Amino acid sequence: MKTAATKLLGIELPVVLPGMSWISKPDLVVAVSEAGGLGILATGPLSADETRASIRAVRARTQRPFGVGVTLMMPGAVENAKVALEERVPVVNYQLGRGDWLIQGVHGYGGKAVTTVTSVRHARSAERAGADALLVTGHEAAAHGEDVSTMVLVPAVVRAVDIPVIAAGGFADGHGLAAALALGAGAVAMGTRLAATQESGLHELTKKAIVEKGVDETLYTNHFDGMWARLMKTPRSVAETRRPMGFAETAWRAIRAARALGMPLRPVVDRLIQNPDQARLLAYFGASIPLVEKATLQGDIEGGVQFIGQAQGLVEDVPRAGELVRRTVADARSILEELAGQPA
Ligand SMILES: Cc1cc2nc3c(=O)[nH]c(=O)nc-3n(C[C@H](O)[C@H](O)[C@H](O)COP(=O)(O)O)c2cc1C
Repeated sequence: MKTAATKLLGIELPVVLPGMSWISKPDLVVAVSEAGGLGILATGPLSADETRASIRAVRARTQRPFGVGVTLMMPGAVENAKVALEERVPVVNYQLGRGDWLIQGVHGYGGKAVTTVTSVRHARSAERAGADALLVTGHEAAAHGEDVSTMVLVPAVVRAVDIPVIAAGGFADGHGLAAALALGAGAVAMGTRLAATQESGLHELTKKAIVEKGVDETLYTNHFDGMWARLMKTPRSVAETRRPMGFAETAWRAIRAARALGMPLRPVVDRLIQNPDQARLLAYFGASIPLVEKATLQGDIEGGVQFIGQAQGLVEDVPRAGELVRRTVADARSILEELAGQPA
């Protein structure tokens, strides 16, 4: 199945595994890329050395294109992005930060830069900065989408830019892929769906919870890690996000997060006084990590908090990732053929 996105990325099938911390690890990246899609390695919780080792682990097992994902505003992300450039990774996917230098670096060795965006304004500015493609994330998505639904955001971005668009947020099967292609996208990125596959790093109990939960069992809040994010709705996530953090708690948590991340305390205290919003982000971020680890790595959704998209309600099994990629494309193809055969 050829589209502008598959041609650009050098892949056979228009399905992308997006970066998901602790989940998009080498096993899953290799499975998706070997099936003909594009696997993107998540680097959020990795040190620069771990990022290099993971990139090499992927390379040892596939000759096919793969990507590395970096969230530039997070601690350690710039270092991880530099490792991706040194290792000449075919596709670098970045978000939340200025990526001009990264785009130039990727282009220096003939790689492709994919910018994740959540608005038409960001899409235009990423295209101006030289991005080769956009990963456009709608409101339905797990983790950090914004207000506008995928159904509206994807065609709006397709109209606004001339580069290929990968649609994300709510895609879980062939119906979704066929719809994304009809909206003008050249591929889908499936996070929630691919998190519930055999090669995924997600704990087995949390995969089971994804299968059991419905489309309406998520919540969307900015009281968890400080940014607007979608979470699995559980008593713990509801309690955790009921109200915003007060100043005293923000200060205490920001200092604790700085200690855990090995950051010097003085700038954190200065920030608390001069730029409380930034300190608050650090506080939320620091407080969120142990809760995400509990759900994602230990399978404890009573005690932890899980990022998840509305598409969890469309997930009915935990297949091998390659089988899922092939099934999604085969189903989309027959849906599109069937529609093309029907009288208008
Ligand atoms: C369990 C899970 C963990 C995620 N973790 C991250 C992350 O660490 N960094 C990130 O940028 N996006 C993360 N995402 C968001 C995905 O990259 C992607 O944007 C999103 O899953 C797309 O929407 P969908 O879930 O409806 O497919 C995560 C998604 C899921 C489902």
